[in-house]
Amino acid sequence: MSVNRFVLNGMSFHGHGAISEIPGIVASRGFKKAFVASDPDLVKFGVTAKVTDLLEKNGIAFELYTDIKPNPTIENVQHGVDAYRASGADFMITIGGGSSMDTGKGIGIIVNNPEYYDVRSLEGVAPTKHRTVFTIAVPTTGGTGAESTINYVITDVEKKRKFVCVDPNDIPDVAVVDPDMMSSMPKGLTASTGMDALTHAIEGYTTKAAWALADCLDLEAIKLIAKNLRKAVQNDPDGREGMALAQYVTAMAYSNVGLGIAHSMAHTLGAVYDTPHGVACAMMLPS
Ligand SMILES: NC(=O)c1ccc[n+]([C@@H]2O[C@H](COP(=O)([O-])OP(=O)(O)OC[C@H]3O[C@@H](n4cnc5c(N)ncnc54)[C@H](O)[C@@H]3O)[C@@H](O)[C@H]2O)c1
Ligand SMILES: [Fe+2]
Repeated sequence: MSVNRFVLNGMSFHGHGAISEIPGIVASRGFKKAFVASDPDLVKFGVTAKVTDLLEKNGIAFELYTDIKPNPTIENVQHGVDAYRASGADFMITIGGGSSMDTGKGIGIIVNNPEYYDVRSLEGVAPTKHRTVFTIAVPTTGGTGAESTINYVITDVEKKRKFVCVDPNDIPDVAVVDPDMMSSMPKGLTASTGMDALTHAIEGYTTKAAWALADCLDLEAIKLIAKNLRKAVQNDPDGREGMALAQYVTAMAYSNVGLGIAHSMAHTLGAVYDTPHGVACAMMLPS
C-alpha cells in the first residue's frame, strides 16, 4: 500500500467581505508590523488599499513592498528579502495574483532559511529547515490558488526559464479568499486566470499521481468553473464568488498531486515571451 501526503492551509476565510477578518487575525497573534507584498498595478488600481486601509483603521503598522512584476524574478525575491530585513516587520501579508503571492513565498522562505539567498538553490524540493514567516495570503485573481499551494514559480531572467519550488514550509498560514478583491479584474484577465484554474483541475485530475482525495476536489472545481467562469467575466458577484472558491479548491488538489505537460509548456512561454500565465495555459490545454 502506498502512502499519500496532503498539505493544506491551517485556516482559510471565504466569501464577500472576508478581508474584514484580517485585523482580528493579526490582533489574536500579537503581531506588530506587516510586510505587505503587492505589485505596482494593484497599488495603482486601489486593490491593495482595500486591505491596507483596514490595517490603518485598526492601527496596524505596515511597510509596502512593490518591486514585483508578473512572472516574478530572482531579483524581485532577493530585493524583497533585503526590504523585509530592513523593515522590522514580524509577519507578511501578500496581496495579488500568483506573482505577488509567489514572490512573498520566496521572501518568507529565505528570511527564515538565509542559506538559500541565491534563490536558484530552492528549485525543486529544497530541504529547508524552517517555516516561512507567518503569512496571510489574499488572492486578487481567480486563478493560481497560490494561497493554498506548496509551490511557487520564479523566473530566471539570465537563463530564460521559470522554475518551480515545492516546499510544504511555504504554504501561507492563513488564506483570505474574498471575491471582492477580484472584482476589479478586467474581462481578459478574469478569463485567462479562470482558464489557469481549469487547467489545474483537468491536469490535477488526469495526472498519474491523482487519487481520491484530490479527485473529489478537482471534479467539484470543474463543475464550479463550468457554472461560474462566464458569469465572473461579466463581473457578476455570484460568478466571482464561485470562481474564487473553484480556484482555491483545485489548488488544494494540484498542490498535492502535481500538474501536467500543459503547465510545463506554459512556464516556458512565460519565461521566454513573458506570456501571461493563464493565457499560456489556455493555449496549451487543448493540445
Ligand atoms: N504558486 C503556485 O502554486 C502557482 C500556480 C500557478 C501559477 N503560478 C504563477 O503565478 C503567476 C501568475 O499569477 P496570476 O495569473 O494570478 O497573475 P499575476 O499575479 O501575474 O497578475 C497579472 C496582472 O494582473 C493584475 N491584477 C491582478 N489582480 C488584479 C485585480 N483584482 N484587478 C486588476 N488587475 C489585477 C496584476 O497587477 C498584474 O499586472 C505566474 O508567475 C505563474 O507561474 C503560481
Ligand atoms: Fe497555473
